[in-house]
Amino acid sequence: MPRSPVGREIDRVDGRLKVTGAAEYSGDYRAPERAADLAHAHLVTSTIARGTITRIDTAAALASPGVLRVYAAPEPIERLALYGVTGQAAGFTEPYIPLQTAAVHFYGQAIAMVVAETPEQARDAAALVTATYAAEPPRTSIADEPHVPAGPTISGSPSSLNILAPGVESIDAALAASDVVVEAEFHQNVQHHVGMEPHAVLAVWEEPDRVTIYAGAQIPAAYALGMAQRLGLLPQNVRLITKYVGGGFGARVVLWSDTPLAAAAARELGRPVRLVLTREQMFTLTGHRSHLTQTVRLGASRRGVLNAVSHRSLAERPSTMSFTMTPAHSTSDALYSTPNLHVDAQLAVLDIPGSRAMRGPNEAPGSFALETAMDELAIATGVDPVALRLRNYATTSPSSGLPWSSKHLDECYRVGAERFGWSTRSATPRARVDGQWLYGTGMATAIYPAARRTGFAARVQLRNDDTAVVSTATSDLGTGATTMVAISGADALGIPLARVTPEIGDTYLPPGAPAVGSSGTHATVPLVVDAARNVIAELKRLAVTRDGSPWQGAAAEDLRYERGILHGGGRSMTFGRLLTAIGSRGVDMESSPGGDPIPGVIHHSFGAHFCEVRVNRFTGETRVTRFTTVADVGRVINAKAARSQLVGGVIFGIGHALLEENHLELRTGRLANSTLADYLVPVNADVPDIDVVMLDRPDPRLTGPLGDGSEDVGTGSLGARGLGEIGTVASAAAIGNAVYNATGIRVRDVPITPDKLI
Ligand code: MOS
Repeated sequence: MPRSPVGREIDRVDGRLKVTGAAEYSGDYRAPERAADLAHAHLVTSTIARGTITRIDTAAALASPGVLRVYAAPEPIERLALYGVTGQAAGFTEPYIPLQTAAVHFYGQAIAMVVAETPEQARDAAALVTATYAAEPPRTSIADEPHVPAGPTISGSPSSLNILAPGVESIDAALAASDVVVEAEFHQNVQHHVGMEPHAVLAVWEEPDRVTIYAGAQIPAAYALGMAQRLGLLPQNVRLITKYVGGGFGARVVLWSDTPLAAAAARELGRPVRLVLTREQMFTLTGHRSHLTQTVRLGASRRGVLNAVSHRSLAERPSTMSFTMTPAHSTSDALYSTPNLHVDAQLAVLDIPGSRAMRGPNEAPGSFALETAMDELAIATGVDPVALRLRNYATTSPSSGLPWSSKHLDECYRVGAERFGWSTRSATPRARVDGQWLYGTGMATAIYPAARRTGFAARVQLRNDDTAVVSTATSDLGTGATTMVAISGADALGIPLARVTPEIGDTYLPPGAPAVGSSGTHATVPLVVDAARNVIAELKRLAVTRDGSPWQGAAAEDLRYERGILHGGGRSMTFGRLLTAIGSRGVDMESSPGGDPIPGVIHHSFGAHFCEVRVNRFTGETRVTRFTTVADVGRVINAKAARSQLVGGVIFGIGHALLEENHLELRTGRLANSTLADYLVPVNADVPDIDVVMLDRPDPRLTGPLGDGSEDVGTGSLGARGLGEIGTVASAAAIGNAVYNATGIRVRDVPITPDKLI
C-alpha cells in the first residue's frame, strides 16, 4: 500500500533535469523548428534619471555586423505596436509603454533596443548607441520630497491606524504614561531580489496574431493578459510558458519592459527573438525593495508589559512602477498585544527605477525595526527577550481584534530556546570573548500573512495505464511547486508519487494560483484535492453507465474508491483497468469554483529565530556562527523543499543584516552599486548550517477540513500554510540583536558593516 508522500522528505521530481542542465529556463528555449531564424535583442538604457531624450544616434549601431534593427525612443508606434494596459493586469504591468515616448523616468530605463543575428553582435552594437538628453534634476531624497500617506496596505487594511484605550488621548500620551519608553530610528538602502536567472524572454509568433512567450513569471495569468493588451491581441492568443524559473522573490510579479519589447521586435521582424538582460540591467529594469526610514516607539511597564506601540515609516514611491511600502503591516499591527497602537506609512515620490515587492516585502524591514526595538526594551526592562515576547503574546490581533485560525508561536519560542540553548546566554554585552572574537546571541519573532486566494483551478486526469496527470498554471520559482503539485495529487488519489505527472507553467492549463505572498502551496493543494474528488465521482459515474464496466447498472453510491482502486459488489478494479474496460484512455475533471475564506479569523505563519554571531574585535567583521529557526507553517507538504525554503529565507536575512544595499546617488539618481561585484549577497562561506524545525501543526481553517478517512479523497494533506517568506522575516533582527549582545553596539542602519562596529 502506498504511503502518502505528504510531510516526507521528497526529492524534486525535476531535480535530475535541473542538476544535469536539461531543464530549460527562459533564456534556454530554442524553438527548435525556428532555431535557424532566432534573432537576439539587447537593450540600451538611460544615463539620466529625469528629463527628455533629445536625440538618439543609431547610425554606428546600424552599420555594425549582424545588426537587423535598431529601435530607439520615441519609436513610431506602428513599428512596435505596443499599447496601454488597463483593468486587472494593470497592477502587474509597468505603466509606461517602453520606447514610445522621449520621457526618461529613471536612470537605467530602456531607451533603445538592438536586434542582431547573435547576442554578441547585439550587445556590441548596443554599446555604439548614443543618446543626448534635456536633463532635469531628479527627485532622490525621501526626506526632502513631499510626503504623502501610503494608502491601503497590500492586503487592503489601513496603513495608518490610531487605536487608543478608553480615556487615552493620543499615542504620545500613552507613551508618556509608560514606565519605560524605547524610541529607535532605522534606515535601510535599496535592496534587490537577485534571482540566479537573469530576466530572459523568447518570443515566437505562430501566426500574425498569435504568440508564444517563454519567460519567468510569478503570476502567469496576469502576465499573459498584460502581454495580450500590450501587443493588442486577444487574451487567448498569448500563451506563456514559464516552466523553470530561476528565482522570483517578487521581481517576476511584474510585466517589465523587456518581454513586450522582445515580442514586438519578433513580430516586426518575422523572426523569433530572444532577449536576456545583463546582470547590471537587472538592477534597474526588474524592481527592487525601496529604501526607507522607520521609527518605532514602545512604551511598557517596568515588567515589560506593552502599553503602547507606535511604528512610522517613510519610503520611496518610484514615479513609474511602485510597491507601496507599509512596513508596520503584519508586524507592529499584528504581533504583540497592546492597548494603544499607532502605525503610519508615508511615501515620497522619487525618480528612481520601479520598485516591487521583495520577499517579505513589508515584513522583513518592518520586523527588523520592531524586533530590534523589542530587544532594546528587553534590555531597558531587564526582562529576557523570549520572556518579554511571551509576556506580550497576542491571542487576538491588536489591529483587527480577530483571533487566528491557528497560532503556535509560543511553542516556536519554547522549542527554539531549548534547541539553541538559550538559557545559558548572558544578557550582558561583551560577556563572551574568544581570542579576537566577541560572541553574542540574539533572537527575534517572525510573522507573515497567509492570505487565502481563490478563483483558481486545477485539473486531475486519470489515465488507463493507472497514472494520473495533475495540471494547473501556477509557476515554480525554484520553490518545489512542481513537486508539491505531484505530492498533493498522489495523496489525494492515494497512488504512488511515481505514477503522478505534474504539469504547470503554461497558461493553456487551468488558471493556477499565483506564486506570490507565500501562498502558492496553500492555494493549490485544495484545488488538487477538489479536482481529485470530482474526477473520482466522474469515474464512478462512468463505472455505472458505460458498456464494458462490471458495475454497469449499479448505483454510484455503492462504489468506493480507495488508493487507486474502485470497490463495489464484491469486485475491485484499478481505475486504469476500468478505463481500459470501458474503452477510455482517460477521464479528467477540474476543481469546482469556491473555497471562499472562512470569516471571523485571520491567518499568519509564525516563527522564532535564534542566532549566534562572532564579531572580530579588531576588524569589525561579523560571522553568523549558529542559527536555529522554528516555524509554525501549518501542515508541511514536502519536508525537504520546506526546509530549503526556510534556509533560503534565513540566508536572505543574512544578506539584509550584513551585506546588501544599493546606494542611490542623490545628484544623478543612479543606483550606484548595480553589479554583483558591488552589491554583495551571501555566499556559501557566509552561511552556517541552519537548524530548521517545522512544528507541522495543520491549519484546517485556512485550507479546509482535514480528511477523516470517511471520504474517498485526501488522507489529510490539507492545513498547509505559507513558508516561502517567513524565514526572511526578522532573521536580520535576530542577527542584529546578537551583534549587540556580542559588542554592546546597536546598529539600526543595515547592513551592519565592519565600519559600524569599530
Ligand atoms: Mo512575493 S515578495 O509576493 O514574490
